[in-house]
Amino acid sequence: MSAFGTVFAPEMSLTRYEQGQWSATEFVSSDSLNLHPGAHVLHYSSTCFEGLKAFKHQDGSINIFRMEQNIARLIQSSELLSLPPVDAEQLKQMIVDIVKRYAGDVPLPPGSMYIRPTHIGTEASIGKAAAPSNTSLLYVLLSPVGDYFASGSKPLRLLLADETRCASHMGVVKSGGNYASALQPILKARQSVQADQVLFCPGGDVQETGAANFLLIDGNEIITKSLDSSFLHGITRHSILTLARDRGMTVSERALSVDELLERAQKPGAEAALSGTAAVLTSVGTLIHDGKEYAVGNGEAGPTTNALRQALNDIQWGKAADTHGWLTNVC
Ligand SMILES: Cc1ncc(COP(=O)(O)O)c(C=O)c1O
Repeated sequence: MSAFGTVFAPEMSLTRYEQGQWSATEFVSSDSLNLHPGAHVLHYSSTCFEGLKAFKHQDGSINIFRMEQNIARLIQSSELLSLPPVDAEQLKQMIVDIVKRYAGDVPLPPGSMYIRPTHIGTEASIGKAAAPSNTSLLYVLLSPVGDYFASGSKPLRLLLADETRCASHMGVVKSGGNYASALQPILKARQSVQADQVLFCPGGDVQETGAANFLLIDGNEIITKSLDSSFLHGITRHSILTLARDRGMTVSERALSVDELLERAQKPGAEAALSGTAAVLTSVGTLIHDGKEYAVGNGEAGPTTNALRQALNDIQWGKAADTHGWLTNVC
């Protein structure tokens, strides 16, 4: 099977922002873009993106999960990067139309169609280091995907690092530079301790990994960092916390220190997981800190993690009622 995100639908939907307005949406080939080498994005990183999924249900219908939240986050990222203002209605139509056009290519569960809206500053001006791009491109790429973590249900190994993933006011922005700045710590963690991911814990504050949020499950309680500007406000995180509340669990959104995490993770029955559009909800089996390894609970995937993941998948896959109105039917 091809690696996650390496296969694309042949076309994407695209609009350009010029002279204060967006052009009519076009469907264009997804294999190239014509960009000036001096484009703002290539020098000053005026770029943000989103990741969401469309699912095929047993009746053949195609349904997108929590599209409005992803659009709202792209609008916020664009604002915080001083990119031109995204038109929510147009973007919604761009997503729905391209997914409808390639409805036949949406894989059956556990696969899905990954949707990647992308917004980049295109103005050809290398003099604009301290000024925004007046022009931009917004396009929606599609990529049929299977399971993100090729290891399937194998619990992950996380290295707890006393580092920031990105500038502390930029964590809330889904922008390329944040991922680039996290790469060196992640590569070193893979090499030095065979970690799957780094859990960024600057000053002992448990934040998130390079591409997912972190949740600790202790009995009937689920604990995760409360929202601030330092990390990405995951839509899966919000969905899982909502489903946990539905099940009568206590949801604690608050600061979690490395010390408390290590202490609670070692209790029998403790569970930890990563949440994200790609990761869904993936168990964490081992935490690595200061050269020591700590098994989370018994080191295996826990029953609460599995049940919450199943509850989320059941809604996404049309096997349980969509009681929160999270799905948009496309066709
Ligand atoms: C840095 C980071 N944190 C958290 C998440 C989880 O966000 P979401 O659940 O909206 O996919 C992502 C994206 O998947 C991410 O890239």
